[in-house]
Amino acid sequence: MPHILTIVGARPQFIKAAVLSRVFSADASFKETLVHTGQHYDYNMSDVFFEELEMAPPAYNLGIGSGSHGAQTGKMMVDLEAVILKEKPDCVLIYGDTNSTLAGSMVAAKLHIPVAHVEAGLRSFNKKMPEEINRITTDHVSTFLFCPTQTAVDNLKNENIQKGVYLSGDVMYDSVLFYAQKASNILDQLKLQTENYALVTVHRAENTDDPVRLKAIFSALGKSGLPCVLPAHPRLKSYLDKYGIQPAANLSLVDPVSYLDMIQLEKNAKMIITDSGGVQKEAYFFHRPCITMRDETEWVETVSAGWNKIVGADEKAIIEAITRFTPPDSHPDFYGEGNAGEKIAEVIKNHL
Ligand code: UD1
Ligand code: UDP
Repeated sequence: MPHILTIVGARPQFIKAAVLSRVFSADASFKETLVHTGQHYDYNMSDVFFEELEMAPPAYNLGIGSGSHGAQTGKMMVDLEAVILKEKPDCVLIYGDTNSTLAGSMVAAKLHIPVAHVEAGLRSFNKKMPEEINRITTDHVSTFLFCPTQTAVDNLKNENIQKGVYLSGDVMYDSVLFYAQKASNILDQLKLQTENYALVTVHRAENTDDPVRLKAIFSALGKSGLPCVLPAHPRLKSYLDKYGIQPAANLSLVDPVSYLDMIQLEKNAKMIITDSGGVQKEAYFFHRPCITMRDETEWVETVSAGWNKIVGADEKAIIEAITRFTPPDSHPDFYGEGNAGEKIAEVIKNHL
């Protein structure tokens, strides 16, 4: 029976891990031990996902919390090493590109435990992003590399990584298919009407921590006059306060919302304006035009298909895109068939 030790810590990882946890719990040949590093800890950044996605509570919560990259990652590594030595798993399963991903992959690889990386091969080619460092490092020590897209497979090939690479499709697509029909009354709660608002998220360090970029983004959103609902990541809230930025009257900042509420907001938005990785893809899944406030993206297919417009943090470009951006009729599939979770579990089972 393969014993999988899954490491999560940040909001998008709870959502991705729920997909695999469902597959593992339906197959008696797997044992899964879930470890939460505690990177995200507010109720609406963590517990709400376990409750709503009906995940078992983690067997361990390391309670690491926030900190500088070195301090946060270092503390995670110390505690993860102790857990992995105690649990002796056959495989350590990690998701995405956060500091929890990096800490998990480094510790497991040095203990000679196979690392399975879900969302392998993504690249922004911008090493100023902490996520890019985390991804590159993790991919180079992983045994199983589960790529959501062909582009990700190609990126790995360009770095001479070909062994253990699987084109699995995207677990976030599985997740949207599974949860999209479930109820949420968020539109009523926020008094929103379908296609009458833009859904906005801003949390990427390169935007929040930089006063010039953050001011340009909020100025553009304000000048656009478009009603915007903005579930605000705690990182955004603290930097808006720090830089004394007052959101304009057309921007409605709300606390982070649950996953079912978020996908309901996405499905019904006139457009989505974001710097999130996951939200760009979800915009594509729901056929919503996406404006991405970054200088590049890992999800390049959404851009080449004409559904995602990269605008950086440039005030004029953001306003121009809000006013004019219109995706084409065509909408090719890039993210698999909605069975990435099953494919990943199958590979792990066959190799352990
Ligand atoms: C992290 C990931 C990022 C991912 C994002 C998902 C890294 C380097 N970054 O960014 O790739 O897109 O999660 O949301 O791992 N905070 C709270 N409460 C919480 C969590 C965070 O108040 O529950 C505040 C703290 O002030 C903290 C700040 O948010 O310092 C940033 O949190 P952190 O986990 O370091 O990075 P994220 O910006 O969330
Ligand atoms: N999300 C959510 N509530 C929110 C904002 C985001 O449930 O208030 C979900 C979103 O639907 C997606 C994931 O969180 O599935 C994306 O996480 P985030 O934007 O924090 O991180 P990224 O994907 O950029 O790493």
